[in-house]
Amino acid sequence: MTLHVAVIGSGPAGIYTAEALVKQSAEPVEVDVLERLPTPYGLVRYGVAPDHTSIKSIANYLRRVLELPEVRFLGGVTLGAHLSVEDLLGAYDAVVYCTGAMVDRKLGIPGEDLPGSVAATDFVNWYCGHPDVDPDRFTLDTSEVAVIGVGNVAVDVVRVLAKTADELRATDVPHEVLERLGDSQVKAIHMVGRRGPEHAKFTLKELRELGELANADVCVRPEEAVVLGGDFPRQIQGNIKVLQEWAGREPVGRPRRLDVRFWLRPVEILGTERVEGLKLERTRLSDDGRVIGTGEYETLPVGMVLRSVGYQSVPLPGVPFSEKTMTVPNEAGRVREREYVAGWLKRGPTGVIGTNKSDAAETVRTLLADLGGRPGAGRHGIDALLAERGVRPVTYEEWRAIEEAEGELARTLGRGERVKLVGLEAMLRASRP
Ligand SMILES: Cc1cc2nc3c(=O)[nH]c(=O)nc-3n(C[C@H](O)[C@H](O)[C@H](O)COP(=O)(O)OP(=O)(O)OC[C@H]3O[C@@H](n4cnc5c(N)ncnc54)[C@H](O)[C@@H]3O)c2cc1C
Ligand SMILES: NC(=O)c1ccc[n+]([C@@H]2O[C@H](COP(=O)([O-])OP(=O)(O)OC[C@H]3O[C@@H](n4cnc5c(N)ncnc54)[C@H](OP(=O)(O)O)[C@@H]3O)[C@@H](O)[C@H]2O)c1
Repeated sequence: MTLHVAVIGSGPAGIYTAEALVKQSAEPVEVDVLERLPTPYGLVRYGVAPDHTSIKSIANYLRRVLELPEVRFLGGVTLGAHLSVEDLLGAYDAVVYCTGAMVDRKLGIPGEDLPGSVAATDFVNWYCGHPDVDPDRFTLDTSEVAVIGVGNVAVDVVRVLAKTADELRATDVPHEVLERLGDSQVKAIHMVGRRGPEHAKFTLKELRELGELANADVCVRPEEAVVLGGDFPRQIQGNIKVLQEWAGREPVGRPRRLDVRFWLRPVEILGTERVEGLKLERTRLSDDGRVIGTGEYETLPVGMVLRSVGYQSVPLPGVPFSEKTMTVPNEAGRVREREYVAGWLKRGPTGVIGTNKSDAAETVRTLLADLGGRPGAGRHGIDALLAERGVRPVTYEEWRAIEEAEGELARTLGRGERVKLVGLEAMLRASRP
């Protein structure tokens, strides 16, 4: 008897879960992938930076999973709005939650909510054309911007701010966003880490790209590039070497300047009506390895603060959630009877796309060990239930029509392979021409 499984979320974790479920040979399985957006691929579409085209091409692999005969894509269906956990457990043998981490972590400092203090999640959604964010949301009318955090998302955000619109023209950045980037007044970008170069979370390849920016000089202060001790893993040694090389470089007069700063923590975002500055405190590590302030302050005269200090999952209605770890508690992917979890919702917002493959495989092993060999109850009435509630899911073919419209738009505008359509309405119109 065939097992019928609902996977909630079509990011890498959801699609790798679907793949692992249907590609094993012990058990016949059919999978519905339910996604709140009309488009699949999660952060591969709405997170990976537009100029990282080779990483974006992972979508070609994920697409082949959605095209497997045992897998069905149902876009525009939200757990919590259109369907409840009970609905899903009534309709499927098992449910796997793969809804990722959609919101920003907070800094918890005064001024964080001022206009001009922006979560990286919003900024990334903006340049990626996510339907939750208005394309007119950011105007970049300030000359100095601070980016807090030294992870790979911060590096993406810095690169997009530092590049010219022309450099991004061949990417899929929505046209409205490209125009805003073209009008950008930004001259100085400060990327701020609260610890040293040896603690930075960015990876070497991503860091090196900053040194190759055609439109920006990269500057590091020699005193902040000093690293004591030396027995670091290769990646970190590589980061240190690159940063120390930059510390010896003189700016050559490129239009923009990127300052990579270390040992500074944000203590207050200044301003009354909007952001007018960022107050930082110099830091050091305490004997037990905590970041502590030294009481020495400096203020950056920035008009925008981009907070890139990590993502965070949100609870799903009816699904257990730990406020401590901000994940769904699980044992090797098992949440409760017939309920499972994979991806960022399972282990927190770290790891590259490929990490979700082994993570999904673990969850699928658990699921099959629990349910394999039992008679499946089957996929009962989910289509009728959605129809009754006035929800008409976006099919895989309809998603492909959206992709085609994006290709057509790129050709019309004389841009690269595709340009993202902005807004749910435009996508739905394109899906049903
Ligand atoms: C800005 C950014 C850039 C990144 N760039 C890279 C990179 O270049 N290379 C790399 O290897 N890794 C990159 N990563 C990491 C990678 O994107 C993640 O490891 C991966 O996307 C996590 O997969 P996931 O499926 O758990 O979550 P997601 O990709 O977030 O997928 C979750 C999906 O669930 C859907 N969903 C949410 N709630 C519901 C609901 N209630 N009902 C139905 N559906 C729902 C969402 O719409 C989304 O499609 C990046 C991450 C970020 C944040
Ligand atoms: N090209 C790629 O491969 C790519 C691109 C984007 C994202 N990703 C992956 O996606 C995941 C998420 O990336 P991310 O950049 O969002 O997260 P991340 O790697 O966890 O980096 C978060 C950064 O924020 C800092 N931070 C946290 N809290 C802070 C606070 N209160 N004040 C100041 N700084 C603070 C952290 O410093 P501390 O270390 O001191 O806590 C760290 O520098 C990572 O695994 C990343 O590798 C990969």
